[in-house]
Amino acid sequence: MGIQFSKSKKIFKLDTLHTTYMIGLTTEGYVGHMYYGTRLQNIGGEYLLRTEEAPFTPSKNKREKSSFLDFFPMEYPTGGIGDYRESCLNVRNEDGCLGCEIHYVTHSIQKGKPSLKGLPASFGSDEDVMTLDITCIDNILQLKVILSYSVFEKQDIITRSIQVINQGKENLKLEKVYSSCLDLDNQNFEMITLHGSWARERHIQRGKIRYGKQMVSSARGESGHQEHPFIALVTPETTQDYGEVYGMHFVYSGNFIAQAELTQFDSVRMVMGIHQEEFCWNLTPKSSFQAPEVVLVYSNEGLGKMTRSLHDFYREHMIRSPYKHKKRPILINNWEATYFDFNTEKLLAIAKEAKKAGIEMLVMDDGWFGKRNSDNSSLGDWFVNEEKITSGLKSLVEQVNEIGLEFGIWFEPEMISPDSNLYKSHPEWAIQIPGREATQSREQYVLDLSNPVVVNYTYESVAKILRSAPISYVKWDMNRQLSDLGSAYLNKDSKQELFHRYVLGVYQLQEMLIHEFPYLLLENCSGGGARFDPGMLYYSPQIWCSDDTDAIERLKIQEGTALIYPLSTIGAHVSDCPNHSVGRITPFETRGHVALAGTFGYELDITKISEKERAMISKQVDMYHKYHELIREGDYYRIASWSENQHYDCWEVVSKDKKEALVTFVQVLGIPNSHSRKIKLKALNPHSYYQLEETGEIFSGELLVSAGFLIKGMWGDYQSKLYHFIEVDKFS
Ligand code: GLA
Repeated sequence: MGIQFSKSKKIFKLDTLHTTYMIGLTTEGYVGHMYYGTRLQNIGGEYLLRTEEAPFTPSKNKREKSSFLDFFPMEYPTGGIGDYRESCLNVRNEDGCLGCEIHYVTHSIQKGKPSLKGLPASFGSDEDVMTLDITCIDNILQLKVILSYSVFEKQDIITRSIQVINQGKENLKLEKVYSSCLDLDNQNFEMITLHGSWARERHIQRGKIRYGKQMVSSARGESGHQEHPFIALVTPETTQDYGEVYGMHFVYSGNFIAQAELTQFDSVRMVMGIHQEEFCWNLTPKSSFQAPEVVLVYSNEGLGKMTRSLHDFYREHMIRSPYKHKKRPILINNWEATYFDFNTEKLLAIAKEAKKAGIEMLVMDDGWFGKRNSDNSSLGDWFVNEEKITSGLKSLVEQVNEIGLEFGIWFEPEMISPDSNLYKSHPEWAIQIPGREATQSREQYVLDLSNPVVVNYTYESVAKILRSAPISYVKWDMNRQLSDLGSAYLNKDSKQELFHRYVLGVYQLQEMLIHEFPYLLLENCSGGGARFDPGMLYYSPQIWCSDDTDAIERLKIQEGTALIYPLSTIGAHVSDCPNHSVGRITPFETRGHVALAGTFGYELDITKISEKERAMISKQVDMYHKYHELIREGDYYRIASWSENQHYDCWEVVSKDKKEALVTFVQVLGIPNSHSRKIKLKALNPHSYYQLEETGEIFSGELLVSAGFLIKGMWGDYQSKLYHFIEVDKFS
């Protein structure tokens, strides 16, 4: 059973296949964190709350309440009453005082998992998941706080979320509502986060935690290129295969904080939630606030196990798109091919060549609307520029379809250019502070999506285009972050709701879109990969990973992304060289192998590349058709990382039934005078035999896993190779 409650011991025990999470209640009703780790058989261990040692619980020693609060492992700490570590819930009353203290009242355990209104959240059937709601109350404020835990047994995942309900008569202000807290004893933890910048997203960063608070965060209005809403604490010996890992990942696409705080008593408080900056929610009587979901994962088998739990979980329980288990069409996008300089003829020429090579979809990127010929105008004017698309959109799409390709289109719906018809008629729809010149970024402003009229207008302008022609795919971009937080719609007291209401507006737009166009393949994007987060996966099965398409830069970006996201979600394309971000020249073959570890597609002018490269596209198309299912559905293993070894990168995807495995090896730098490199494969069946397809050689699974496979040195830098192992009957 996934969730048990022992009335006598006052303990909740939440079990997944390999992990247990235990919550205990004190006599006063404090909800304490007892345990998260390897699966336990029995419910028990009251001593873990340390209520029998000084500074005792408040009912045993009233004088020491603050010492107790500053030490007790809380499931959901509240601010203002004496727990000086990071609080998760800060509530201000009408008198202007900050203080809240919650105690257990009741709980319920149910099969399945309710959805979170207006927010993305994981889902599952009654067989997949069970949910525990612990209801607490602050009797003074008449504030109800529901701590929800959902247990996904098979994937070893527990999700948490918080709902706060004002049952009293006072207008309350929520100044902070985080979604998750984990109070652990320090085990010499190191913290892993994903750091980046535009074109350098999600590089893995690891370091020992120190006393005090260390965090990653975003106050940019989106999850961002710079930090990622993910944090893991790992024991120092942790590798891909060994060590303990506690991970938290936020199902949200706006401001966030992910923090570890090493305290005076060597405990660690790990928290995650909406960033406090410029956040204050008016909780009027009878109203409620739903905080987004956090995904919790524990592994005692290193980072690899965490990775595979998250991959399985997102594939099964976060992505809703009908494409999630389907082959994605191989697309060619005209961005790096033409930038803004294209017209019907150019697009049709690309489509014709693409068709010959076996490509399946043409995506028309930025520049088809308004009078947009550079990035300085027309966002908001979502009508086709017939000077460029001379035949009109419908006719273009039909012609592309006749050539034999599906058609996709780019939008940036959340934005407004100062130089646009929309801005002329509705300057008040832009987020800005009256009397202050708003900061432009990429010469654009952000639309005020807290305003339902703006949301509906925006939706209609996108939907009108999609209704006008048979469009199969949308790339939904967002090319600047929020600043100058003024809203003509929100009143003076609710301005600090703008950040969150903006994100809710984005979710509403995407929900409307997939509701009206359920078979649309949606790819989210934000100046490359700035809004790659679990929240967006709820709406789109894939997200553009980075504007950096250089195969070598992509190794680090995709390694960091694949640490927590399935390969099927990672937008990856082969582009032309010298690469547009770094000017690097890499072999066409290597670019294909790296893009294969993602959704796969092209981002180049196929009419201009050499015959030889065009022929290689046909081969790569075959390669994709051969491996797409394995890559989308298989188990991912990271074997080597060139950011650690400075020479080579290697990963493996193994089918769930272990009947085949694909190893990708990239020799980033050639080394003189070297021998072959021994790579130990993972997860093969030790009692089976595997044939290396390329050479016909046969190896036992145990040999490949324990002794390894020899990869011969390649001539030159940036070389790569695929190795496909298929299970065979040795004697056949
Ligand atoms: C962003 C995207 C690119 C491209 C441009 C168009 O940077 O990440 O792929 O669509 O916008 O302006």
